[in-house]
Amino acid sequence: MKGRLMRVAYMPGDGVGHEVSVESQQILAQVAERDGFKYQLIPFDLGATRYLGTGEVLPDAILEKLRGCDAILLGAVGDPRVPPGVLEKGILLRLRFEFHQYINLRPVRLFPGVEGPIKGKGPDDVDMIVVRENNEDLYVGAGGFTRKGTPEEVAIQTSINTRAGVERAIRYAFELARKRSQTGSFRGLSEADRKQGFVRQVTLVAKTNVLTFAHDLWMRAYQEVAQEYPQVKADYQHVDACCMRMVVAPERFDVIVTTNMFGDIITDLGAVLQGGLGLAASGNINPERTAPSMFEPVHGSAPDIAGKGIANPLASILSLAMMLDHLEKPRSADRVRRAVASVLAAGTPRTPDLGGKSTTKEVGQAVRDALALDKSR
Ligand code: NAD
Ligand code: IPM
Ligand code: MN
Repeated sequence: MKGRLMRVAYMPGDGVGHEVSVESQQILAQVAERDGFKYQLIPFDLGATRYLGTGEVLPDAILEKLRGCDAILLGAVGDPRVPPGVLEKGILLRLRFEFHQYINLRPVRLFPGVEGPIKGKGPDDVDMIVVRENNEDLYVGAGGFTRKGTPEEVAIQTSINTRAGVERAIRYAFELARKRSQTGSFRGLSEADRKQGFVRQVTLVAKTNVLTFAHDLWMRAYQEVAQEYPQVKADYQHVDACCMRMVVAPERFDVIVTTNMFGDIITDLGAVLQGGLGLAASGNINPERTAPSMFEPVHGSAPDIAGKGIANPLASILSLAMMLDHLEKPRSADRVRRAVASVLAAGTPRTPDLGGKSTTKEVGQAVRDALALDKSR
């Protein structure tokens, strides 16, 4: 990355995607100025407006322009005027697949000052990260209809799980657990676990009791990779029990690795654990950096509140921080997270999803003010 101007694709997308992305964009400008790095912001107008106006979803020429960028900052796609799946599959999933963003990284962390939904569970109890496999499973679009529209109709949608695809996601999760050990050991480990030498934990979330082919492959790959990480406890939860435990005992989770479909579902639950979708960030990562990675809030275009100026911009801003980490600007990433943390700790301003009355812009401004006050180097 050194010696060349960093290229950031700016893709606000649809609905509240616009409202939250503009705040992140301003914060990027501020932090770049502060930390003395330069970048080029390249706007892309993909989404419902383009589709409804021209019929285009993601033209190949634009895909190639995106490929030349170092990272993509995405708002959200999806619009009630467009049939379901057209924009979601045509833009979001196509980019995840074409750019080999095979990891979807979704931290679940409750910031001090934010009221979590579970009585008696605070920031010390909610600090996990989900590694969602992002290129396979039910998402590949394998399947079809026969006798469509008749009473005998059959619809098939197949979950694709390749050994290589599964193994690289699992390995990423163990590597992440190893990295997390640098920030201390996992508090959820028992005395007996510690005696065995474990410092961190990975939980495989699957459904081995029913999906006895696909998730048997997952389990075998998991057990083999786990052998290479003797300091990481290899835990397992069925996805249904995982949902229950995430609510009852979130402190039992450190790193979770799971399939694309289950990862989608449990990370909306994870979003609630951290104070709602307005705070949940994510990165679609190409670990080999052969194409750009893409950073976006977990939430969608939120048509119910779009245009009102009240969407919470913090999920987008925290996704920007993940982008800065990926672009090897960890100091700037930490700065952004500290600014968000200080706004949340102050209790105000807050958008309505967090019980406040403030606007998107007021919260964005508060983060910029906090950044300006940040005295650390
Ligand atoms: P959604 O995430 O857009 O909204 C769910 C609920 O959360 C809504 O009540 C919404 O108001 C609220 N919410 C979401 N973001 C918020 C924010 N920043 N601040 C405050 N409240 C917020 O999910 P949905 O309604 O199921 O989907 C709407 C559209 O978005 C659909 O077209 C869907 O396919 C698409 N979608 C896109 C992405 C993406 O681009 N990554 C993700 C999820 C859904
Ligand atoms: C998400 C979204 C997407 C997904 C949709 C919009 C395709 O729900 O990023 O969580 O299912 O991955
Ligand atoms: Mn989702």
